[in-house]
Amino acid sequence: MKRVFSGVQPTGNIHLGNYLGALKQFVELQEDHECIYCIVDLHAITMPQEPKVLREHILDVAALYLAVGVDPKKSIVFVQSDVPGHAELSWILTCNSYTGELSRMTQFKDKSKEKESAPTGLFTYPILMAADILLYDTNVVPVGNDQKQHIEICRDLAIRVNNKYKTKSFIVPEGRFLKEGARIMSLDDPSSKMSKSAENIHSRISLLDEPGKIKKSIMKATTDSEGIIKYDVKNKPGISNLLNIYCEMSEYTVKELEEKYQGCGYGDFKKDLVEVVNEGLKPIKERYEEIRYSGELPKILEDGAKRANLISAKTMNRVKNNVGLGIN
Ligand code: TYM
Repeated sequence: MKRVFSGVQPTGNIHLGNYLGALKQFVELQEDHECIYCIVDLHAITMPQEPKVLREHILDVAALYLAVGVDPKKSIVFVQSDVPGHAELSWILTCNSYTGELSRMTQFKDKSKEKESAPTGLFTYPILMAADILLYDTNVVPVGNDQKQHIEICRDLAIRVNNKYKTKSFIVPEGRFLKEGARIMSLDDPSSKMSKSAENIHSRISLLDEPGKIKKSIMKATTDSEGIIKYDVKNKPGISNLLNIYCEMSEYTVKELEEKYQGCGYGDFKKDLVEVVNEGLKPIKERYEEIRYSGELPKILEDGAKRANLISAKTMNRVKNNVGLGIN
């Protein structure tokens, strides 16, 4: 069975982009893969976090994993900082990386833009992410396509270390991106991706938003003045993004949606989309409410960390041996 690894940062406001780009795939994959899903709290502290809030956000993500359908009996669900191998392997990979390749990463360029100095953790973020993946001999990494560059550098590092030490320390993983709708864009500015941290709450649909808020955000979403429902990312990015969301949240293809809404205005289309999104998120919210404060999460995460530690310890032994670290 192929092994899958992925992670989500516990930084609040988990949104439709996270769901459609990543979480939805997590559930599909667990049927015929050995899946490991991580809450990447070490990545979260690359930006300032309030400790008490961070703890709550960790449990929020754990509850959301389960609420969308990740089954802790089938998949390993755990918190990154509970497994020391992540930070340890990250250092070994750091010593095999170059500042040049890290400074070319668009996420670092975006987040450090116009700043005189940026946190080092932000700079080495892709290395920690590579460590997450390589630590578990991962074959497949389901992520949104905003993570393509990160998957590339992970593959480069794996190949580089294997070649340098002339041993097979790592399996070279593949990214798994959705084709249509892999990147969900912001509702108020369809040229940038939907993000957890954007100031305008109407730029995103958080999975736990109230139906009224969701209605407002969709009805306000930026479109164009043409009034024709047609998929054309270049010239009609706003309506194309809404078509993507509709398609991913329903059984319709984009083509079928274009036919269904031929001759209709954006208002009617948006009203139906509100229904589709609210209906789709309702069971997730209900499950979330059941799980989040049920008291079962700490046990699930503890058990997940035990299982993750067993796998990662084997990789660390092998890698340290190949690199010549320690004495046995
Ligand atoms: P994070 O928490 O920012 O995002 C979690 C997942 O959601 C996807 N995503 C999107 N997909 C489509 N449209 C969007 N607008 C959108 N925004 C976010 C992301 O691609 C991601 O799959 N670096 C990762 C966390 C991570 C990780 C890993 C992932 C750390 N280590 C190892 C996989 C494997 C991230 O940005 O998460």
